[in-house]
Amino acid sequence: MKHLLDSSFSGTLKVPGDKSITHRALMFGALAKGTTHIHLPLHSEDIRRTMECMRALGAEIEENAEEWVVTSKGHSSLHAPDETLYTGNSGTTTRLITGLIAGLGLRAEIEGDASIAKRPMDRIQRPLAEMGADIALKDEKYPPITIKPAALSPITYTMPIASAQVKSAILLASLFTDGDTVIHEPSPSRNHTEIMLRQFGADIASENGMITLAGGNELNASDVTVPGDISSAAFPIVLAVLKPGSSITIDNVSLNETRSGILDVLEMMGADVTVEQTSQEGEALGRIHAAYTPELKGFEISGDIIPRLIDEIPILALLAAYSNEACTVRGAHELRFKETDRIRAVIDELSRFGIRFTEYDDGFTVHPGQVDVMENTPVKGYNDHRIIMMLIVFSIISNTPLEIDDISAIDISYPGFMEDLEALRKDA
Ligand code: S3P
Repeated sequence: MKHLLDSSFSGTLKVPGDKSITHRALMFGALAKGTTHIHLPLHSEDIRRTMECMRALGAEIEENAEEWVVTSKGHSSLHAPDETLYTGNSGTTTRLITGLIAGLGLRAEIEGDASIAKRPMDRIQRPLAEMGADIALKDEKYPPITIKPAALSPITYTMPIASAQVKSAILLASLFTDGDTVIHEPSPSRNHTEIMLRQFGADIASENGMITLAGGNELNASDVTVPGDISSAAFPIVLAVLKPGSSITIDNVSLNETRSGILDVLEMMGADVTVEQTSQEGEALGRIHAAYTPELKGFEISGDIIPRLIDEIPILALLAAYSNEACTVRGAHELRFKETDRIRAVIDELSRFGIRFTEYDDGFTVHPGQVDVMENTPVKGYNDHRIIMMLIVFSIISNTPLEIDDISAIDISYPGFMEDLEALRKDA
């Protein structure tokens, strides 16, 4: 990694496929009757977990490098798994398949790794129990999750928090119920489930924070082309903005409005970033150009923008540390329940280098000032892919090697991250 430090970065990059979309394509492909081709899927640890779970339920999945083929005889052909389903580090797999299995009326036990064992599942258990599901949790909150067969009915549910995982778990459970399920969202969370369900033939409408799904229709197999993941693109984009002499283009990346909050913040900061939309059908798609920007303004964000950039907040904290003005994130309490408490992790690690934070229960302010990086300072990645990639970008822009305890969790969402940076290295 040392040779990345003194370099600037240029060229064009295609980041790996969108994680949220690949999870859903595998699940909907397994539920739908027929053959679903998934073009340019993300190959990563989290996705592997969803793939193995769908196989354990009876879906046939063929893997080729650029395309996966899911073959299913429809939702009624899926069966209870023989063994406990293992969801690894993946919150999306854990929460979405709980809704899916409850909806199919099957019996299953679900568990994940040490991080999943600490993530709250009562947020899905509550609405699913209201629908009639029989779901038991450890200490009424955590995995392992035990699901017993039960008949489900549609519900009208007002979500206490904006969460695409909770919304999707309810929608999956409601697919084969008899009647309309209505969900009210406090702020728009990512809408990949709604877009893809419509494509697979579900009767679903979404308007002004209200989603209505009419249950009882068989899903039809459909082909999915997965765009690049903007949450992965965020790391090379911030690297280019902060590293003198850099100028990069990310091609074929998702510009879905419910995911593109980071682009709004980069604009508020006056960063040299331009966006070109190339397609709008279903999932919006385009090209992002990012170049070094010597002076960055501050920002204050809260409210509806937060779910639109929830996974980008660790890398935004780093960007904020190099701004000439204070930068504030509020309304992001959800960060405390991600792979690790990301508010704590970001503050604990970056404040080792003189970066000054004010911590709030639901966010932080980063104060402008000198960043003092000492070579080989030990830092922790908390086995959290997005914290680790933020620390790697930090090491590169500060031209200082850091001793990160373990970087293997990068594979959760972005295998090939280091190789992609290497390919953009100017003198490579
Ligand atoms: C995801 C939703 C988000 C996000 C996660 C992926 C999804 O979580 O943080 O990385 O694919 O539905 P919440 O819905 O819990 O906010």
